[in-house]
Amino acid sequence: MTKQSTFRFRSQDWFDNPERIDMTALYLERFMNYGITPDELRSGKPIIGIAQSGSDITPCNRVHLELVKRVRDGIRDAGGIPMEFPLHPIFENCRRPTAALDRNLAYLGLVEILHGYPIDAVVLTTGCDKTTPAQLMAVSTVDMPAIVLSGGPMLDGWFDGELVGSGAAIWKARRQLAAGSIDEQKFMNIATASAPSAGHCNTMGTASTMNAVAEALGMSLTGCAAIPAPYRERGQMAYETGRRIVGLAMEDVRPSNILTRDAFLDAIVVNAAIGGSSNAQPHIMAMARHAGVEITTEDWMTYGYEVPLLLNMQPAGKYLGERFHRAGGVPAVMWELDQAGLLRSDRLTVTGKTLAQNIDMLQTMDREMIRPFADPLKENAGFLVLKGNLFDFAIMKTSVISPSFRERYLATPGAENCFECKVVVFDGSDDYHARINDPTLGIDEHTMLVIRGAGPIGWPGSAEVVNMQPPDALIKRGINNLPTLGDGRQSGTSDSPSILNASPESAAGGNLALLHTGDIVRVDLVHGRCDVLLSDAELEARKLDTPPAIPPSQTPWQEIYRATVGQLHTGACMELALPYRAVAGAMPRH
Ligand code: FES
Ligand code: MG
Repeated sequence: MTKQSTFRFRSQDWFDNPERIDMTALYLERFMNYGITPDELRSGKPIIGIAQSGSDITPCNRVHLELVKRVRDGIRDAGGIPMEFPLHPIFENCRRPTAALDRNLAYLGLVEILHGYPIDAVVLTTGCDKTTPAQLMAVSTVDMPAIVLSGGPMLDGWFDGELVGSGAAIWKARRQLAAGSIDEQKFMNIATASAPSAGHCNTMGTASTMNAVAEALGMSLTGCAAIPAPYRERGQMAYETGRRIVGLAMEDVRPSNILTRDAFLDAIVVNAAIGGSSNAQPHIMAMARHAGVEITTEDWMTYGYEVPLLLNMQPAGKYLGERFHRAGGVPAVMWELDQAGLLRSDRLTVTGKTLAQNIDMLQTMDREMIRPFADPLKENAGFLVLKGNLFDFAIMKTSVISPSFRERYLATPGAENCFECKVVVFDGSDDYHARINDPTLGIDEHTMLVIRGAGPIGWPGSAEVVNMQPPDALIKRGINNLPTLGDGRQSGTSDSPSILNASPESAAGGNLALLHTGDIVRVDLVHGRCDVLLSDAELEARKLDTPPAIPPSQTPWQEIYRATVGQLHTGACMELALPYRAVAGAMPRH
């Protein structure tokens, strides 16, 4: 206990306030009805919130309903008082029209809970994609001591003697179904085989990416991110996390001490080395902005692009989460990067030690899974940032460019890494599904598929739809990937090298709104350009046309979301929330 004797936890303002004994009595009274005593609540011990993200409708995080018992044990053993409360659910797969709506909503709800209740520090239970950034954004706004406990990935999936990873297996099987090489029953069997246990996606999709990012930032205990949900180490990690959050409360170590620009730059580096999800881009930007840290769109190229791919995990590589954990998890990847001088490892983490101290001696013994820096799976594995006359910012996840895609589009002698395509434009995914197999569109291997109306305002929420599958007829001919472009996102488990997260989106006045089917788009990966081959005058003239329609809001939150959200290049934050950083950390009125 390093606190000075005069230090009072904020919860004492509720439970032990001699000046407002009337209010203290009121605050204490109802907690007693579950058996907690006034003496406990007035003991001066920190009240540790546990933000419970698991529920039946967030099955990826449901393991936390069990893990929380060990978190509570750890908190009690270290001298704290646990208080569990629910986080607004966020389930990537089933939330319609998209779970992206829920990140800012869960953020908002958690800020209100942490600001308005007698909580001194908080355990963030993370798992499914947006459950991690939503909570880290919130603890930055209130700047309260916090620690991340990942729920961990599912066990590896197996089907017909082959590894099948969640999400990734579905994208592949969907193409096999379109080609007629499997039937619907087999499609279903592959999908269910890819999800064999409790836990979040076992691929390096957005969930594993964001949990790895949380650990890279220094917000979880060392080795936390990769432990599979059913492993015994997961329960042990829950216990140690519960113990440690009490220490963080006593030491008054806050997110602002840990979430520095150095931490976010390291997160960008780690994301590239693990072949992380393209969704890491908006989420890292959002977390940084809520932490008051400036990360520019250029930082992704400056610090991330040249980082090699070290981790051999689907979708960029072969294996799944169990092997990642056994190979040493995030610390082993960071050890490799630190040896190469790519990390700023003298920064503080929630362990109370520096990152360098945390990862000391934690190099991998499994060189098939985590490659040496000098012999990576791929060079230049970071996101490629593009701009042009259709948008100011978009990214391409180059680590998933397949040899056949490279051969078809990027290998023209004399014009390597450049290609031109005629575009076919879809307004949202309903339009795509209705028309993709229409033969009159003339889609062939020289076509780029474009989707718009899929961004934060247009959808609303920004949909994971840019990895559009080619028409069935092309797939039957063995063309599994066409170049795609859009103002939406794509699943982190997708192996499609789409140009995505285009900002500003078409619904916010971006030039994607001006594109016509039949236009020619030129992509130049060498110079990071993507342009429609039209004159400025022609583009200007098209601005007089009626903009593409977007669907009306169907709930009040969709309307509020649309009115308050920024664009993907700056993290799709609720813009009006940003100035509340630290303000919300002040004591609320009675
Ligand atoms: Fe929840 Fe992948 S859908 S973790
Ligand atoms: Mg996703």
